[in-house]
Amino acid sequence: MNVLIVGSGAREHALAWRIRQSPALARLWAAPGNYGTASLADNLPSGTGVDSITAAARQVSADLVVVGPEAPLADGLADALTAMGIPVFGPTRAAARLESSKSFARKLVRDSGAPGPEFAVFRDESDALDYLRRNPGPRVVKADGLAAGKGVFVCDDAMQAAAAVQGCMSGRLFGSAGDTIVLEQRLEGREVSVFAFCDGEHLSPLAAACDYKRLNDGDTGPNTGGMGSYSPPEFWTPELCAQVERTIMRPVVNAMTERGAPYRGVLYAGLMLTADGPKVLEFNCRLGDPETQTLMPRLASDPLELMLACNQGALHRVNAQWNDRRCVAVVMASGGYPGDYETGFQITGLENTPSDTPENTPTDTSSDMDDALIFAAGVGAGPSGRPVTTGGRVLTVVGSGSSIAQARQQAYARLQGISFHGAHWRNDIALNLREQNR
Ligand code: GLY
Repeated sequence: MNVLIVGSGAREHALAWRIRQSPALARLWAAPGNYGTASLADNLPSGTGVDSITAAARQVSADLVVVGPEAPLADGLADALTAMGIPVFGPTRAAARLESSKSFARKLVRDSGAPGPEFAVFRDESDALDYLRRNPGPRVVKADGLAAGKGVFVCDDAMQAAAAVQGCMSGRLFGSAGDTIVLEQRLEGREVSVFAFCDGEHLSPLAAACDYKRLNDGDTGPNTGGMGSYSPPEFWTPELCAQVERTIMRPVVNAMTERGAPYRGVLYAGLMLTADGPKVLEFNCRLGDPETQTLMPRLASDPLELMLACNQGALHRVNAQWNDRRCVAVVMASGGYPGDYETGFQITGLENTPSDTPENTPTDTSSDMDDALIFAAGVGAGPSGRPVTTGGRVLTVVGSGSSIAQARQQAYARLQGISFHGAHWRNDIALNLREQNR
């Protein structure tokens, strides 16, 4: 099978690493890919827009296109590829509305019967501000459209919420993405990311992970694109998994099909585990980053068989499974990130990692790995061909083992051997968890 991966982050490097192990793979391309995918795939000098990717898919005679980021899906990439007869792993534009329109997602969740917070949708700023005066208290303000992960404001009180409303609406912080906003009751509890492969009707077994959004230890500092993750969470019991499938994932997938927008791809639910049970914070129409970096080493099934089955409505014929391996991912970032940062600093210590040498990709994902994996994001080739920093989140180091503590130890031990000017990371990823004995 000729496979084209769309995207350029550590998530896409992790996908390339796992897909490279598939016996069904003939050739692998990445558009545009990155320094890490270059040793596993042929990188194409392409954008990720619909026109660029459809042209690239035709050029390489792709048998499957695997889409990493949400923006091309929201723009109709899956629809365009389907119209060309090219199978795609990722939902149609209509199904991607679960992520690209927060008001659509909220109404669909409510109508499906899945649990979520109280909410109200506004197109007029003064109506929204009036609502906040009448309903004080902690709120979440969301710009309706895609805002590169920056359109959600978690507010302690009505004053903060009013400022967020004004920023989105009259302030046009996110352009037309903020013309409509959603005001939600703020939920308290423990956050978890839950993933299911879907073919419009069937769901794979769920996989769960926790990510760390704040920059600094102790969940302090500004929000980032994600500074680490671990999987599976120590609190993710078979009972909780069954409850989430029954009360959230299944009803939402059914509701999408009933609306004529069957969901095919990976469905990512951001949930809050509240005192009243799990509730929906948001849905995403793709794999998470940095969660994918801990999920790919846990995917026991052939990824290509699984992704193609999602496209073809044949998931029930595939033995979809996650292994029992524990994984911990730590993100190394450039000094200054998520604010301004400089790039071009040489990175040392990346040699001989199993994730960038095709011969080293372990074929048995259930056994322990001898060394951590390193997935590149903001890494490029410098003038001498050596790796240099090119972005804010530079790379993800992933350790694994039979316990989270072991996985954590492997990740941090490997991270100590990598350096670049200004590098920073969190030291508390997956620290002090109450793990059950396996
Ligand atoms: N982990 C957050 C995201 O991928 O959106």
